[in-house]
Amino acid sequence: MRLRFFRKLFGGLISNNVAIDLGTSSTLIFVENQGIVLNEPTVIAMDSKTNRSIAVGKEAQRMLGRTPPNIKATRPMKDGVIADFQMVEEMLRSFLRMTMKKRLLMRPRAIVCVPSGITAVEMRAVRDSVEHAGAREVYLVAEPVAAAVGVGLPVNDPYGNMVIDIGGGTTEIALIALSGIVTKSSIRVGGDEMDEAILQYIKKKYNLLIGDRSAENIKIQIGSSFPLDEEKEMEIRGNDLVRGIPKTIKVSSSEIRTALQEPVSMIFTAVRHALESTPPELASDIVDNGIVMTGGGALLRGLDAALKEETNLFIKVADNPIECVVKGAGIIVENLTDYEEVLMTGGE
Ligand SMILES: Nc1ncnc2c1ncn2[C@@H]1O[C@H](COP(=O)(O)OP(=O)(O)OP(=O)(O)O)[C@@H](O)[C@H]1O
Ligand SMILES: [Mg+2]
Repeated sequence: MRLRFFRKLFGGLISNNVAIDLGTSSTLIFVENQGIVLNEPTVIAMDSKTNRSIAVGKEAQRMLGRTPPNIKATRPMKDGVIADFQMVEEMLRSFLRMTMKKRLLMRPRAIVCVPSGITAVEMRAVRDSVEHAGAREVYLVAEPVAAAVGVGLPVNDPYGNMVIDIGGGTTEIALIALSGIVTKSSIRVGGDEMDEAILQYIKKKYNLLIGDRSAENIKIQIGSSFPLDEEKEMEIRGNDLVRGIPKTIKVSSSEIRTALQEPVSMIFTAVRHALESTPPELASDIVDNGIVMTGGGALLRGLDAALKEETNLFIKVADNPIECVVKGAGIIVENLTDYEEVLMTGGE
């Protein structure tokens, strides 16, 4: 009530609260009453002489692997957590500035999504970075819980809902009921590991070295984890390791499927573990409702079909899987009193 009064009085000077999905691959920001206002790669380019940030997001991503010695383009998050504290802070400060055009009288309150397997030290690092980047208060929420809220699952009910969020750095599997995580399994395997598996496969089979971004592109263009109705082919370029010169070769989707077998099977093993430790009453809810997949990794062709074959359960890929986590965190930030129970404690 009082906040509403102040808002009326000071108009846009009091900032709206924000939800941040600080992911290994992409950072998304949701502003209260506005929705998703930013979706940028989690990349920052710094000038190593001045130690100043030159670019963030898409602009910095274009520089990855192509910079002169004095510029360093980095992905400052690794496996779902902060790898470089200072860079994350700089990057977030720029992102927050991009979303809030006016000078603000009061800094925003932020909800930040973190992997459910995060340690207390890692939580502390996230809180500090986001506070230093300009937030007034920081609350943390586990990614799969936010994802579940984002896809509209009734997380406050006593029914079991299972969500698998496959991001760039982590895969989070959680069974949620009564606002809490009943069982979870969090592994540091996600889209990045898939890219690495493709890179290694091409290197071993063809003596060809490709970059991380090419590997990701191959995965997105022709990657799969279940036989396709029509197998695909694609030309790729890299450096011939024997002759040391650039070379072009053709790869098929079935080869890439072989390359992806290991990371995909690690994800399936984690799903099996989560299912094994599910209490019987809730297991029957999963049989009725199936499992929802979110995160960019869920877009891998045939992953739902392969997981259905593996588990015999109904598997659904969420609409706009990359946005589910931030959307859920946004719903939480707009209805904090209803969702108080889902906030994580620790690392304060
Ligand atoms: N069509 C696609 N097919 C396969 N993978 C895809 C596709 N589109 C995006 N991805 C992958 O999804 C991953 C990014 O997903 P997402 O944005 O959910 O991750 P994140 O939230 O940044 O990471 P994390 O949650 O692990 O910190 C990347 O590895 C990307 O290559
Ligand atoms: Mg994520």
